[in-house]
Amino acid sequence: MSTQDEVATERSRTVDSAMVPRQFVVTASRRDTRDTRTLELRALGDEPLAFGSGQFTMLSAFGAGEVPISISGDPTRPEVLQHTIRDVGGATRALVAASPGTMLGVRGPFGHGWQVADGRGSDIVFVAGGIGLAPLRPAILEVCADRASYGRVSLLYGARTPEDILFGPDLRVWARDHDIDVEETVDTGPHAWRGRVGLVTQLVARVAFDAAHTLALVCGPEVMMRYAAQALIHCGVTADRIRLSMERNMKCGVGLCGHCQLRELFLCVDGPVLSYDRLEPLMTRAEL
Ligand SMILES: Cc1cc2nc3c(=O)[nH]c(=O)nc-3n(C[C@H](O)[C@H](O)[C@H](O)COP(=O)(O)OP(=O)(O)OC[C@H]3O[C@@H](n4cnc5c(N)ncnc54)[C@H](O)[C@@H]3O)c2cc1C
Ligand code: FES
Repeated sequence: MSTQDEVATERSRTVDSAMVPRQFVVTASRRDTRDTRTLELRALGDEPLAFGSGQFTMLSAFGAGEVPISISGDPTRPEVLQHTIRDVGGATRALVAASPGTMLGVRGPFGHGWQVADGRGSDIVFVAGGIGLAPLRPAILEVCADRASYGRVSLLYGARTPEDILFGPDLRVWARDHDIDVEETVDTGPHAWRGRVGLVTQLVARVAFDAAHTLALVCGPEVMMRYAAQALIHCGVTADRIRLSMERNMKCGVGLCGHCQLRELFLCVDGPVLSYDRLEPLMTRAEL
C-alpha cells in the first residue's frame, strides 16, 4: 500500500469512528430558564470527552434526532460533559426533557474553538446574547482558572427578559471572585427590574479595555454579532482579534455533507469560531 493510500485509509477510519455516537448517561438536569436546561452527562465505561472551549458535539436523543450543541462545561473537568439546551423544536425538546438515567448519543467533540489562550497578556471582552452565553462559558471558566495571565476582563451579556438570564449564580461568582466586569442588559424588563434595558452592543462603549491589546469573543444571534463586531472595531479592536461563533444547519460535523457550507468554509470544521476578518464578507449572505 502506498503512503497516499495509507493516509486515505486512516482518514476514512477516523471519519467512520466520528460518525458513531458514544453512549452517555444523563446524571443531572438543571432548569436554567423557562425554555432552557443544562444537562450533565457521563460517558458509559469509556474515556471522558476532552474538549476545547467553543467546540460542540452532535447530541442525539434516540428516536427524536441529532443536533449540534456547544459544550458549556469546564474544559478542565472533561469527566463531566455539560450541554445547555434551549427547547426550539423536536430534537431539542427531547433533549431538554431527558431526565437523569436517560441514555443519549454523543459524537465529537467537533470544530475549531475560541483559542482563548491567544488572549494571554491582553484584555478580554466577551459579548454574549441569549443562549450564546453557553458556548462562551468554557472560555470564561478557562480565563477564571488562569486569571493572572489576562488583563481587564469584561463580560457583556444581553437577554430577552430578566427571566431569560442564564447562569445567574455564575455571573455573580465571575464578578465577585474573578475580577470580571459583568454588565447585563435585557430587551424588556418588568416595572420592578432595576437593571439595564437596551441592546448588548451598546455596552461595548461603556467598558474599559485597551483596544490595541484586546481579544474579543462574541456569541449570539448573527445580527447581534455583526453589530457587536462593528462596535468593537469602532472602539479600535482589529477584525482579526474579534472571534465569532457561527451557527448553521449541521448534519455530519466532519466536513462531509456540505450542510454547513458558507462559501469556501465548512463551519463544522473551519468553525464554528472564526475571526471577523474572515467572516465579514460572508455574513450578509444566506446559507448556501
Ligand atoms: C455549532 C452549533 C452549536 C450550537 N450550540 C447550541 C447550544 O449550545 N444550545 C442550543 O440550545 N442550541 C445550540 N445550537 C442550535 C441547535 O443545534 C438548534 O436549535 C437545533 O438544531 C434545533 O433542532 P430541533 O430539532 O430542536 O428544532 P428544528 O425543528 O430543527 O428547528 C426549530 C427552529 O429552530 C431553528 N433552527 C434549527 N437549527 C438552528 C440553528 N443551527 N441555529 C439557529 N436556529 C436553528 C429552525 O429554523 C426552526 O425555526 C447550536 C448550533 C450549532 C450549529
Ligand atoms: S455538517 Fe456536514 S459538512 Fe459540516
